[in-house]
Amino acid sequence: MKLDEVEALRVHRQRFGRDGRMFAAPARVNLIGEHTDYTGGLVMPMAIGFRTVAVVSPHEDGRAVFYSVNYGEEVSLEIASLGRTPRGHWSDYPAGVLWSLRLEGVEVGGFSMSLEGDVPLGAGLSSSASVEVVTAVALLDRAGVTLPLEKVATLCRRTENEYVGAKSGIMDQFVVAGAVAHRAMMLDCRSLGYELLPLPDEVRVVICNSMVKHSVATGGYGDRSDEVVAGQAVLRQEKGIELLRDATLEDLEACRGKMTAASFARCKHIITENGRVLEAREALLKGDLERFGKLMIEAHASMRDDFAASCPEVDTLVEIAMRQAGCFGARITGGGFGGCTVNVVSAERAEKFVEAVRREYGAATGIADAQCFVCEPSDGALALLAKGGAQ
Ligand code: GLA
Repeated sequence: MKLDEVEALRVHRQRFGRDGRMFAAPARVNLIGEHTDYTGGLVMPMAIGFRTVAVVSPHEDGRAVFYSVNYGEEVSLEIASLGRTPRGHWSDYPAGVLWSLRLEGVEVGGFSMSLEGDVPLGAGLSSSASVEVVTAVALLDRAGVTLPLEKVATLCRRTENEYVGAKSGIMDQFVVAGAVAHRAMMLDCRSLGYELLPLPDEVRVVICNSMVKHSVATGGYGDRSDEVVAGQAVLRQEKGIELLRDATLEDLEACRGKMTAASFARCKHIITENGRVLEAREALLKGDLERFGKLMIEAHASMRDDFAASCPEVDTLVEIAMRQAGCFGARITGGGFGGCTVNVVSAERAEKFVEAVRREYGAATGIADAQCFVCEPSDGALALLAKGGAQ
């Protein structure tokens, strides 16, 4: 489905009887730096062209009304008495942002909001961060408040961690809010300092969906994050190292006997991955795509073997990609346990790459409907707003 913004405005007017203002937030893909964010590490995501749009209009009764066009459902809440009451429902994301904004002292008057998105769900492309950030941007506008990027990202992450209950880091919310078109973003998840990096014109970023559903809120993501946090606690106690970000493989080795084999392997992935992000930055700045691609392949092996967060279908998808002419690198992207691969492919081979990968993946797994997308690094929600994304 491709989102029709004019239609979104019309649907809102028809449902709520008022014209609304429109806001948009993209999805994201991570080029390299996986599971490093919640231990203060380095990541290199970019925003992509899928979007969530929010259309908002005011009303006077002090209620928040969220309507999901995708689910065809409406949820109405009293703003003044909104507590931390997640229901395991799509509305937890926008309601949780409203809750988080109120904790921040932002007073939002009554409103109706229609939400509609074309971000594939459960694919590891951050449909949830896209909803959170668009809600935050729309409600800040409604409240007449401007907050800096770091605050917007942090309050959306709080929604995810404390309202929805997922143990995720800040990568998704930060890039979805702060990305800039034609650039990847290297983000330091401790300082929240970032650098925008050019992607050479001669390549495309291709996303291939294994069609194996993944969820950050449930399943393996939380287990992995627990194993990592346990390993980090040992490093803190034994070596006084606060965040894994500051640990070396030697530090980890010295603590091997004090942690489980699983924690050791997960921490090893994170320490080596932080190093790969720095090398990937160097490679991009030099335009060295061969090197960048090799780092992606090493990162995939590390996610598969040390982090144990891949799955057979995704491994097959990476192997098929690497057999294709013009493919520099391929790896699992996002939280893991399914979802998508990210591939860096020469621009002139991108279409052929998509055809061949779909065909060979179908033959190997019986999954005939795998979706592949050729992506451009896109603007984040704040850049879209600055360019007149709100109407
Ligand atoms: C999910 C989380 C992020 C990050 C990635 C893994 O997308 O939301 O915070 O941890 O997984 O890199």
